[in-house]
Amino acid sequence: MNLKRLSILTALFMALLLIAAACGSEEAAQDEEGTEATGDVSEGELEIFSWWTGAGEEAGLLALIELFEEKHPDVKVINAAVAGGAGTNAQAVLASRMQGDDPPGTFQIHGGAALNTGWAAAGKMEPLNDLYEEEGWTEKFPEDLINLVQTDGQIYSVPVNIHRSNVLWYNVAIFEEHGLTAPTTFDEFFDVADQLQAAGVTPLALGDRGEWTATHLLESVLLGTLGADKYNQLWTGDLDFDSAEVREAMENFKQMLAYINEDHAARNWQDAAQMVANGEAAMNVMGDWAAGYFTADLNLEPNKDFGWVAPPETSGLFMVITDTFGLPTGVEDPEVVKDFLRVLGSVEGQDTFNPLKGSIPARVDADVSKYNEYGQKTIQEFNESVLTPTLAHNSAAPAGFVQQINQAVNVFVSSGNVDQFVQSVQLAQDEHIK
Ligand code: GAL
Repeated sequence: MNLKRLSILTALFMALLLIAAACGSEEAAQDEEGTEATGDVSEGELEIFSWWTGAGEEAGLLALIELFEEKHPDVKVINAAVAGGAGTNAQAVLASRMQGDDPPGTFQIHGGAALNTGWAAAGKMEPLNDLYEEEGWTEKFPEDLINLVQTDGQIYSVPVNIHRSNVLWYNVAIFEEHGLTAPTTFDEFFDVADQLQAAGVTPLALGDRGEWTATHLLESVLLGTLGADKYNQLWTGDLDFDSAEVREAMENFKQMLAYINEDHAARNWQDAAQMVANGEAAMNVMGDWAAGYFTADLNLEPNKDFGWVAPPETSGLFMVITDTFGLPTGVEDPEVVKDFLRVLGSVEGQDTFNPLKGSIPARVDADVSKYNEYGQKTIQEFNESVLTPTLAHNSAAPAGFVQQINQAVNVFVSSGNVDQFVQSVQLAQDEHIK
């Protein structure tokens, strides 16, 4: 190449560089205008910590992240989910990070005791009252829900959903084949279960490889046996675990456990729900993330492939679980976290996440038409029901109590010893609740 050609090429290259730089600054100027106009275009990194991985868990989260990325293309999202239903593993990982002053940008936390007696009480969360004010959220989330995420007027997180814990799922074809109606009382349940067992069908699927699922079943049995008021008294210490009422509940629980699959200890919640989906078992009590699993993962249709009722004697009662996200103290880029919270707290965010997750929106003004038959019915029932907090998902009682009752429940599943159960849980109640 001769010198003249080289200098022409160099000049051309320089010109291109100048044009590119000019375009770049124009884009930057537009970005700045965009920032001013919407106030919510941010840059940086956002680590989102949850336990939503795999079947039935992650579709909603991935859709929410995609929505956030569309709105904030300059933010690098790190999906730091740790597998394990109900956060069995994630919560331990989170605890060590929080204690080591290495919080993720934001993390999944249940409203109620988990947040209020946990990280908020430890001074590890920033209040979000200003954000609530800016976004008008105090009008948009039900008061009962806001109460689950606040202590002394300080609001510490934003609910992305409402899950219902007390749902009994059943296989429609099995019930039709055997001419059965979904049970609504304990007597009906035992009657239906006897008929199924006599016909060679496993009546109730349980997957208690993760220790929380047996407690999950038990909380519905406690609620059904005690009713809402007495169930709530367990968490204020006004009703003892060593009481006639809890003993009666434990007898019901024991009787139900007589109908579960033999390999329950080898299965997780998805495996148990799948037994109902594919006709290996007739019923399963699980939160409505199972609805997300049935529809988004297994392509089943509500009221056709699977049906649902409230577990025995809990209709009109709604055991609430709310997954929420907050702003830990000391994160590198709090503005980016707030932008994520804005998206997950918006109508669009909630209606993107919840139809896939099986949950209903936490906001009162979401678009009901985006939800399937299960979701629409549940939105209606939430508004008409008496609400109670979940035990298994850390809303009703502090983490120390939940750990101890989980252990006692797991012993009970094999021993069936009511005395031993009520006495050991009484000690836990005395220590953590009274
Ligand atoms: C709950 C959580 C749900 C779902 C479920 C199973 O604790 O609130 O969103 O993830 O665990 O892992």
